[in-house]
Amino acid sequence: MDMDLMESFDLLVPREGTNSIKWDNRKKAFGRSGVLPMGVADMDFPAPKPIIDAIKKRADTGLLGYEMEDPASLRAAASWQKRRNDFDVDVELMRGVPSVMPGVLAALMALGNPGDSVVIQPPVYPHFYRAVKDAGMKVMENPLLETEDGFVMDYEDLEACFKKGAKLLLFCSPHNPTGRVWKREELEKMLKVCEAYDVKIISDEIHSDLIYEGHRHVPLLSLPDAHARALSFHAISKTFNVPSLHQSYVIAKDERMLAPFEKMQQRLHLYGLSPFGQVAQIAAYEECEPWLDALMAYLTRNRDRAMKFLEGHLPRIKAYTPESTYLLWMDMSKYNKDEKTMVKALVREGNLGIMKGSEFGREGGFRMNFGCPAFLLNDGLKRLETAMKALRHMD
Ligand SMILES: Cc1ncc(COP(=O)(O)O)c(C=O)c1O
Repeated sequence: MDMDLMESFDLLVPREGTNSIKWDNRKKAFGRSGVLPMGVADMDFPAPKPIIDAIKKRADTGLLGYEMEDPASLRAAASWQKRRNDFDVDVELMRGVPSVMPGVLAALMALGNPGDSVVIQPPVYPHFYRAVKDAGMKVMENPLLETEDGFVMDYEDLEACFKKGAKLLLFCSPHNPTGRVWKREELEKMLKVCEAYDVKIISDEIHSDLIYEGHRHVPLLSLPDAHARALSFHAISKTFNVPSLHQSYVIAKDERMLAPFEKMQQRLHLYGLSPFGQVAQIAAYEECEPWLDALMAYLTRNRDRAMKFLEGHLPRIKAYTPESTYLLWMDMSKYNKDEKTMVKALVREGNLGIMKGSEFGREGGFRMNFGCPAFLLNDGLKRLETAMKALRHMD
């Protein structure tokens, strides 16, 4: 492990005044500019040096005209998928996309029709609700079930959704906000249900490089049964903390799935990648594996620290240890307070900005981002405790 890298994650490069959505939009998001922001899903760490160097080098050419897709960036991604996930992909069936959500929207519009129902699995990333609506489609919820061991899919209810006519599944793998890393058996079971009703799947795998020890990401398209019915989306954005570069890509395993997507990409003018995103993707996948290893070691400590704190100080909050990514889903329904009151306690008493469950389709839950220096996380956890103490006296 690179200890210098590990130590670098302890330092905070202040983000106020850098036009950061997480830090500079606090007043609008929480009504107070002084809250400690632990909502928006980026990390408070600078991007890896090889990425910055690649961007500088590219900028130094002075050439910023229209660019074609660089096959080298797709080759780097294909090699990464093979190395990290033992996932064989064909660069001919991959395309760059400027951000995952516009790609997801295009995929919805390409594979479905206005008025169709699309299944999503709450609690889930809020923009899934928006994308379905923006595609002129209807959300059909297939809520995850909570068991002793964590969140699982409800296959019977999934089948019921398809029986009611849903023709698309917008899938999150790993799952935001629960942090579940779906096992092969779970994916196979889900696929069987989709096959039975000829349902197409859009698999958002943006968090799939941030996997904790003991778990393994299985790309949906590594399962042959998914080839004719799925598209998957991937990106360097979460992994290397570079979401503002808007660099992501779609993978298909069957030309018949890619062709309608490409057609829709053209219709929506959703092409044209930034050279900075493309060189960043090459640098990330070819030179930043040590950075990611160090990051995961650091995030593991943060995750474990947060879980230990909740256990010791806030046992009424129910949380499962995330299997992936830097987001912690906390069920606070045992406090028996409505969401508005809880938000008031968090913001006014705790001076803490975290995301509320209703945005994810499940009130009572809150999502806290622990992708930050440890001292900031400790501060956030203390603020959470202060807020929960104050909550007892609030209506
Ligand atoms: C599951 C999921 N998909 C997509 C995104 C956003 O991706 P992009 O910024 O590339 O549109 C996020 C960001 O939090 C996410 O969690």
